[in-house]
Amino acid sequence: MTENKTRKFYIETYGCQMNFSDSEIVASILTAEGFQPSNSLVDTDIVLLNTCSIREHAEDRVRKRLHYFRSLKKKNPGLTIGLLGCMAERTKTALMEEEQLLDLIAGPDSYRHLPGLLEQVHSGKKAIDTILSADETYADINPVRLDSNGVSAFISIMRGCENFCSYCVVPYARGQERSRDAESVIREAKSLFIQGFREVTLLGQNVNSYHWSNGNSEVSFPKLLELVAQVNPLLRLRFATSHPKDLSLEVIRVIAAYPNICKAIHLPVQSGSNKILDKMNRKYTREEYLEKIRSVRSLIPGCAISTDIITGFCDETEEDHRQTLDLMKAAAFDYAFTFKYSERPKTIAAEKFTDNVTAEVKERRLREIITLQQELSSASNHRDLGETFEVLIEGESKRSDKQYFGRNSQNKALVFPKTNQKPGEYLNVKVKRVTSATLIGEAV
Ligand code: SAH
Ligand code: SF4
Ligand code: F3S
Repeated sequence: MTENKTRKFYIETYGCQMNFSDSEIVASILTAEGFQPSNSLVDTDIVLLNTCSIREHAEDRVRKRLHYFRSLKKKNPGLTIGLLGCMAERTKTALMEEEQLLDLIAGPDSYRHLPGLLEQVHSGKKAIDTILSADETYADINPVRLDSNGVSAFISIMRGCENFCSYCVVPYARGQERSRDAESVIREAKSLFIQGFREVTLLGQNVNSYHWSNGNSEVSFPKLLELVAQVNPLLRLRFATSHPKDLSLEVIRVIAAYPNICKAIHLPVQSGSNKILDKMNRKYTREEYLEKIRSVRSLIPGCAISTDIITGFCDETEEDHRQTLDLMKAAAFDYAFTFKYSERPKTIAAEKFTDNVTAEVKERRLREIITLQQELSSASNHRDLGETFEVLIEGESKRSDKQYFGRNSQNKALVFPKTNQKPGEYLNVKVKRVTSATLIGEAV
């Protein structure tokens, strides 16, 4: 193992926050075994690509990247190239055969085996491990914070997903849903606070179904939120993602009760049409969704609500599309991530339905959705003009070293002239101007 000490690794991450959090777990596992993290693709012995399969486009990006890695390997034949994450899990050995480039393939539940797998590669053999686990949560691993601003960090609280939304590859790429030991979550939050971090985001595909018990105590998601919120009033708390079917009044009340639980909920709706929601296997109706929004707005004044929307799912008609636009207006989303439906192999939709909305129609509907969301986001920003928000300073603004960048509880980005405070501190900022993506203000 002493040989590892001279071996450097570089991780490149694609996909969602959970993947970024996983890369920090991988970095921790490898560093503990003597490997050295490198922050340069040219000064490394091992390149690990942590991949995403959510849409075809995500996989295309990885394939393009692998072409580039081929040229690196030509120059440096000793370079080890490994594929991690969801695409590794989904495609198993296929890419190893196709690309004739990869030395290692490891799925999301195999990261503890990476040191051994790398040793296998070192001794001249290809290494593959894509076995999914029913109980791996990496609870005891203390992630190495990569690309950290020293202020905000992710804490993974559960893995996998069993909702089987008909379009979605995640249950196949990430396996069974399992929750992480609550005590280890609290320990990680406390340790981050002591290190100076002031914001943690609890991560899972459906955090509302978090459940953990150790025989004598049971911890549900609202209970976990309370426990983390009680770590310190100066530690801000966010979470993602909430499945609308499981967002309970209890969770909404806990968010309202703790000033340090951020007033921002990401609640992916996917579609505004009941026919499409049913076909997507989302298990709620537009009426139930809008009722949840009403509860959030009445119990948590000033709460921001963001969403995800998929357009052009199988059998989506103009009327279904109109209902999505209509729901967006009714919900008055502050922000939305919008996607064209992309058929994923092995999903229920791929097996049973026809991807029958043409590329042109998907494109046009997406444009209409984006245009409407720009209006809604702009209206949301304009409502903030003249308001004062408590902002957590994250660092210097990218545009100017005379300005700070931070976020308010609603997760909106604010830029304002520097003060004596430092990143990681809170201050009140009054909004003077708004652009499409940023609030521009001054400390008050
Ligand atoms: N667990 C989260 C979402 C995770 S994936 C939830 O249930 O809300 C993030 C987003 O990608 C989804 O909300 C969905 O909008 C989008 N997405 C997932 N599969 C997709 C597909 N096949 N085509 C297009 N978008 C997809
Ligand atoms: Fe995918 Fe649905 Fe699970 Fe979210 S809840 S990860 S959309 S299957
Ligand atoms: Fe992508 Fe896997 Fe996340 S498919 S969105 S990296 S869970």
